[in-house]
Amino acid sequence: ANEIDPDRTAFHFQPSKNWLNDPCGPLYYKGLYHFFYQYNPKGPLWGNIAWGHSVSTDLVNWEALDVALDCTDPFDINGCFTGSVTFVAGEPVILYTSYDDKKRQVQNIAFRKNVSDPLLREWTKPGYNPIMLPEGDIDPANFRDPSTGWFGQDGYWRAAVGANLEGRAEILLYKSLNFVNWERNEFPLHKSQNCGMWECPDFFPVSLSSKDGLDLDPSVNTGNIKHVLKVSLAETFQDYYLVGMYDEKKDVFVPDEGYEDDYKTWPMIDYGHIYASKSFFDGKKNRRILWAWVNESDSVADDVKRGWSGIQTFPRAIWLDTDAKQLIQWPIEEIKSLRKKQVQLCDFQLQSGARYEISGILTSQVDIEVEFELQSLEGAESLDNSYLLDPSKLCDEITPFDKGGIGPFGLFVLSSDINGAQEEHTAIYFRIYKISDRYMAFMCSDLKSSSRREGVTKPAYGAFVGVDISKDKRISLRTLIDHSVVESYGGGGRTCMTLRVYPKHVLTGQTSGLYVFNHGSQEVKIRELNAWEMAKARVNIENDDFISK
Ligand code: FRU
Repeated sequence: ANEIDPDRTAFHFQPSKNWLNDPCGPLYYKGLYHFFYQYNPKGPLWGNIAWGHSVSTDLVNWEALDVALDCTDPFDINGCFTGSVTFVAGEPVILYTSYDDKKRQVQNIAFRKNVSDPLLREWTKPGYNPIMLPEGDIDPANFRDPSTGWFGQDGYWRAAVGANLEGRAEILLYKSLNFVNWERNEFPLHKSQNCGMWECPDFFPVSLSSKDGLDLDPSVNTGNIKHVLKVSLAETFQDYYLVGMYDEKKDVFVPDEGYEDDYKTWPMIDYGHIYASKSFFDGKKNRRILWAWVNESDSVADDVKRGWSGIQTFPRAIWLDTDAKQLIQWPIEEIKSLRKKQVQLCDFQLQSGARYEISGILTSQVDIEVEFELQSLEGAESLDNSYLLDPSKLCDEITPFDKGGIGPFGLFVLSSDINGAQEEHTAIYFRIYKISDRYMAFMCSDLKSSSRREGVTKPAYGAFVGVDISKDKRISLRTLIDHSVVESYGGGGRTCMTLRVYPKHVLTGQTSGLYVFNHGSQEVKIRELNAWEMAKARVNIENDDFISK
């Protein structure tokens, strides 16, 4: 289908048609991965929200099954919103939000209908729903997105729900002995005076000593662990996370020292265009995997014309860095099954002003990883520390063509002709700055010249990368290019930036250029560059029943 729809992705998750948003209840069960998601079965724009469902053996190739939850009952007649799946005594159970017939947001439960169906196709919604109501000080229009539940040593289940209480954001905690009757805990898991609504809470333990993922069960998570609370802030449409401790007695999350109640200081899951991320524990490979919705950013008219909107990030393994402060995310290893033709460069000098074209591979489907090495940091320019809280502003003010001290160096992707100012190019690059006597690596994804189509939003995204550049003098960039999505992992996965890119030149069949460049004054060395052309995965192709048969 790529000939007629060059924006359609080849190895990112998307339904065969229609609207997709949040991931809901990803899980591994008896040899299969399941992925549920917010889905409009009737069209390419948000509405009629149901739970789409696909299965996979490898998290790469997916087969679509029938919708798992549809808005059919009085308590969910206005939409089956985001939720999660929890294993309760080994059985997968869904908790989800809905807009009920009274226009309130409520939480419901669903069980699978046929316990011997390994494909988890059909779900029953008991008539006693809803099981959590927006009572007391909870705003009935802002009470949603139950997390995966976890079982405490006191014999109670817990689940976290996002809510707005008298104007402030809270992650409420509910407790239950049987997973059906829930009571709100005296304290919220966490709250903020400076945020209005946190959607899609994700709460999970991380190991301080290994990259392995941990299951939610606190009884097995004693000792060397921390907890991560991820919130999706409705006001900024971005996902932030906090690292801290979970006080199981009080049932509150205590962020680590240095925490301020100001989201501008919080690390983000991705500094680009993702939202509503959700992770799950993959018992098959002992890892935690994160998914996130990547919304469109072209015109609604174009979405309607194409017949689909919304994709998912490539599944990412996620773990805590050795600094115990930041998360590291990395495309799951299964991605390697799609790698085809490879281009490699080793110990390659990029002179000041150099642009080197990576050719010989299909540049619309690429997995590329580059490790840059700097000679010294002395040429780095000083930068005002006001940019620390607004790095995207910096990316907006500079261009990849500026002759900086150290950098800009990085990639031009999905480019027509980077020499002509009229042409299309997307740059993902680094620049080193000195801020209050500290050298810092800045990562920028610049979409300002990415498209000449009408109605496309073309922002600039910036972030400072959590690597010790003075010590390492090296920085890596891995970028997945897949038609209209460009997903980058800076500094070994410490800073992710996902972009939607809609070049016009591909509409007429023109191929795109891929370049590695250095526009800084100082020479930069590529220690190693590997670029692979990627095969097309089988993702939700209609009438493709390679699993259910
Ligand atoms: C986040 C969100 C959720 C809600 C769902 C509805 O993108 O707004 O809070 O449950 O989408 O589709």
